[in-house]
Amino acid sequence: MRVLVTGGAGFIGSHFVRLLAGGGASVVVLDKLTYAGNLANLEGIDHVFVHGDIADPAAVATAAAGCDAIVNFAAETHVDRSILGPAEFVHTDVLGTMCLLEAARESGARYVQVSTDEVYGDLEAGGRAREGDPLRPSSPYSAAKAGGDLQVLAYVRTYGVRASITRGANTYGPNQYPEKLVPLFVTNAFEGEPLPVYGDGKQVREWLHAEDHCAGVERVLHEGAPGEIYNIGGEDHENIEVTRRILELTGADPALVRHVEDRAGHDRRYAVDDSKLRALGWTPEHSFGEGGLSATVEWYHENRAWWEPIKSGVYRAYYEEQYANRLKA
Ligand code: NAD
Ligand code: DAU
Repeated sequence: MRVLVTGGAGFIGSHFVRLLAGGGASVVVLDKLTYAGNLANLEGIDHVFVHGDIADPAAVATAAAGCDAIVNFAAETHVDRSILGPAEFVHTDVLGTMCLLEAARESGARYVQVSTDEVYGDLEAGGRAREGDPLRPSSPYSAAKAGGDLQVLAYVRTYGVRASITRGANTYGPNQYPEKLVPLFVTNAFEGEPLPVYGDGKQVREWLHAEDHCAGVERVLHEGAPGEIYNIGGEDHENIEVTRRILELTGADPALVRHVEDRAGHDRRYAVDDSKLRALGWTPEHSFGEGGLSATVEWYHENRAWWEPIKSGVYRAYYEEQYANRLKA
């Protein structure tokens, strides 16, 4: 099988390329190499690399030629950046998705859209989102991802494209760009920098290891039905609990924790029901609380050469814009 993996130089996409290539598939990666794309994530993995934008039909045609399937991980993915500037999110997450669907429509390739549990919006305590629930995105990021999902469903119904959607929970693991909660707090803890907790820190997220996320996407690629959506869940924890655990695992000073101004439009809780994917045979192999987070902290400890160069240059400019006033207040 020849598979086009878009966004394959990013965090989860690179784990997926490793999984497919390890299983003997021939893999083509199409990636724009934005700030989040990193060729080091693909070192030692057999693949063909095409540098380009998923919203550019010519780049997509080159990369998709001869592929039996397209799996779309490419996206602008960080909620805080979407609040600072939403345009790129619409470009990639909506228009880019449409360009890939056009390629699948033309070639008849199988298509999997890697989406997010954030499209369901805030969940009441105790509730779990199911695949047929209404979309209530809160941020420009989740609104753009919801737009991508709707494009997919329209292409299934109107053109018969053989597409499925996955909606994964908050993902953690090696090779995650240090802007999201886990890699930001772990690397800041190692550097003796503040850990900026938004608001009271009692927001709940479900934590899913990147390898389990990829196993779920692979299961849907091979066994999911066209037109169907599959949630991929994780383990529920409050942000403040995750923060405390990171302090313990890194041995950092608890005084580094700073409660700062909350994120605009911040969702309190995400939670999904993933029984539909489990019925296809998927079960997670990593537990966040029992080994998953500690192994991830260990990875960042041993791979400073991966993340230290990232935390300079354009990263510093973003960090200042996002946190300087918050940390001063
Ligand atoms: P990431 O930000 O680490 O990587 C995104 C990759 O996409 C990068 O390699 C980047 O260069 C590439 N890219 C961005 N715009 C592109 C464009 N226009 N054309 C081609 N390539 C482009 O992302 P991630 O965290 O690995 O997320 C991957 C996918 O999984 C996304 O679709 C995201 O919405 C979804 N997702 C992520 C999480 C999470 O917690 N990280 C959870 C659920 C779903
Ligand atoms: O739920 C899936 C989503 O998970 C993915 O679709 C997104 O691509 C991914 O970025 C992630 O979104 P979140 O907004 O939940 O992740 P983030 O790591 O940015 O934040 C996790 C929680 O931690 C959230 O409640 C905000 C909080 N937070 C985050 C940062 C960066 C802080 O308190 N301080 C911070 O500095």
